[in-house]
Amino acid sequence: MKVLVIGSGAREHAICWRLKSSPRVKEIFCAPGNPGIASVATCVPVSVSSVDELLSVAIDRGVDITVVGPEAALAVGVVDAFEAKGLRIVGPSQAAAHLETSKAFAKEVMVAAGVPTADYNVFTTRKEVEEFCAQKGAPLVLKVDGLASGKGVFVIKDERDFREAIDTLFGSLRATRVVVEEFLEGVEVSCIFACNGYDAIPLAPAHDYKRLADNDEGPNTGGMGAVCPTPRISDADLAWIRTHCALPIVETMRTRGTPFKGFLYAGLMVSSSEQRDRGIKVLEYNTRLGDPECQSIMVRLTSEPVELYEWMSGARADCPQLEWSAKVATCVVIASDGYPESPAQGDRITGLELAALIPNTVLFHASTVTKDSSTIVSGGGRTLSIVGIGDSVAEARARAYKSVDVIQLRGRRVRRDIGL
Ligand code: AMP
Ligand code: GLY
Repeated sequence: MKVLVIGSGAREHAICWRLKSSPRVKEIFCAPGNPGIASVATCVPVSVSSVDELLSVAIDRGVDITVVGPEAALAVGVVDAFEAKGLRIVGPSQAAAHLETSKAFAKEVMVAAGVPTADYNVFTTRKEVEEFCAQKGAPLVLKVDGLASGKGVFVIKDERDFREAIDTLFGSLRATRVVVEEFLEGVEVSCIFACNGYDAIPLAPAHDYKRLADNDEGPNTGGMGAVCPTPRISDADLAWIRTHCALPIVETMRTRGTPFKGFLYAGLMVSSSEQRDRGIKVLEYNTRLGDPECQSIMVRLTSEPVELYEWMSGARADCPQLEWSAKVATCVVIASDGYPESPAQGDRITGLELAALIPNTVLFHASTVTKDSSTIVSGGGRTLSIVGIGDSVAEARARAYKSVDVIQLRGRRVRRDIGL
C-alpha cells in the first residue's frame, strides 16, 4: 500500500517513521517533508495548503491513503477536496476542523454537547472586552477567535497583562471576535482520540510543556516537550474523558451534519482539588495530532497504524484494537535561537550522527534544511525532537537528554525539566 503524509514537522517525521515499519506499507510519500523525513519517505516539494497539487501527488503516485498532519491543510479544505475525488484521507473536513480554527465555535459546540469547560463570553469590540474584564477582574483568559499559532491566548493575572493582551488582540492580531474565559487552575493533559465520525478511540494520553522556559516560564510555544503515558491521569480518568469530552463532540458534530473524522485532541485542565466532573475540564480542541505529543505517542504504538488509518477514513468498519509498548517515551524539543519571537535560521547543526547512535532514542527532524550533501542547518523554529524510551519517566528522560547533549546548534533553546 502507498501512503501520503502531509506536513513537514517532527510530528510528520514520527508518523512516517512508524509507517516505515509496517509490513503493509510499500511506499511512503511526504509533502513537503524535511531532510529527516527523506530517510524514511519520498519527499515531494508541495506545500501543505496547495490542495490541487496535493491531489495530483495522490492521484499520479497511486496513493491508497493520505494522513494529514497540520491544521493549515485542514483549514484550506484538503480533506473535502480528496473525498470529493473519492480518495481516502485521514482528517476532518474544513467544517469539522472549525473545532480548532474557531475558539468561539468550539465553545458553542462544547456547551451544546454538555462537555465540561470553562465559563466564557464572546465579544466583538475592544470596548465590550474592556468593560466585561473590568467588571470580572483577574484572573481571566483572553483568546482570539482564529488560528494564531499558539500566540492568540493570553492569561491575565494583572492590569499590565490585560493592557498588553488587549493591545495585541486588537492591534497585530486584528481580532474581530474575542473569547473571554474563566481561569482554570491545575495541570494540563493532552488526550487524543482517533475518530471515524461515530466513535472515538483514545490514543495513549500524554502531556506537553507549552512554555519556552523551565518551570513553565516564558512565552507560549507550540510545545517544548512531552511525556507519554502521562502519570497525571488514571485509566479510569481516560475512560471518563472519552465518555464526557470526546463521544459527546463526535455525536454533536454528526447530528449537525459535519461528522468528525480524524484526530480529536482534547487539551484538558486537571484540577488537583476534588471538584465536580473529577476536576477535569476541556481547554481546547485541536483537530489533529499534537506536536510534540505525537512523537512520544508514535514510538509506543505497537499495533498496525494502517488499520487505524483505514478505520478513521471509513475504509473498514471494525475498530482496531490499539496496543502500546509498556515503556515510557519522553520527547525533548530543540528550538533555534530566538524562538518563538524571532527564530534564527541557517545555523549549522552538528552531532546528529552521534545522537543517532545513542540506544533507546529516536531523533525526529522538524525545521531543518540540507545545505550541501553533508551539512544540515536550522530552518527556524522548532528544529529537532528527540524521544528517549525507558522503563520509567526518569530513564526515558535521561536517555533523551543524553542525545540532546551531543547535538550542537548555536543559541539553541531547550527545556531541561521535561519529565520532572
Ligand atoms: P489553548 O490554545 O486554548 O489551549 O490555550 C493555550 C494555553 O493557554 C493552554 O495550554 C493553557 O496553558 C492556557 N489556557 C487556556 N485556557 C485557559 C483557561 N481557561 N485557564 C487557564 N489556562 C488556560
Ligand atoms: N502540543 C500542542 C499542539 O500540538 O497544539
